[in-house]
Amino acid sequence: MSQRTLVLLKPDAVRRGLVGEVIGRIERKAGWSVTALELRELDRGTLETHYAEHVGKPFYEPLVAFMLSGPVVALVVEGERVIEGVRTLAGPTDPIAAAPGSIRGDFGTIVRENLIHASDSEDSAERELKIFFPGRF
Ligand code: PPS
Repeated sequence: MSQRTLVLLKPDAVRRGLVGEVIGRIERKAGWSVTALELRELDRGTLETHYAEHVGKPFYEPLVAFMLSGPVVALVVEGERVIEGVRTLAGPTDPIAAAPGSIRGDFGTIVRENLIHASDSEDSAERELKIFFPGRF
């Protein structure tokens, strides 16, 4: 089943020079393609929409502040079962719980600075693609 997912390489990935490494891991998956890619500074409004389901949770403000702390790379990845697949490549939210070989397991430090966001379902992917690439998907 071919799908599309939204991936954000978070400010820590950009600051630490890990963009190529992470995109390389995605590109090496057979049958997956990067079909849109942009380095950009996010604004608070975009993040409030993107993270709407987390408003009020204890980590919400630190998460938004972190996502505003520097540019991110937004990309669209397409391919077979790519929604589940990119999340498997990323590993769990907490880098300490993430297995070696996953992006967070290899490079993650603390929960807030966990390098990568990837849509968690088809509905989320559709919603998030419209937020980050309006008019394109
Ligand atoms: S939940 O409540 O289970 O849905 O939360 P979870 O999926 O684990 O995390 C949702 C997003 O919040 C980020 N997060 C944090 N950011 C900063 N600080 C802390 N402590 C923290 N805990 C969770 C987490 O990385 C998720 O962001 P995305 O961009 O979706 O990866």
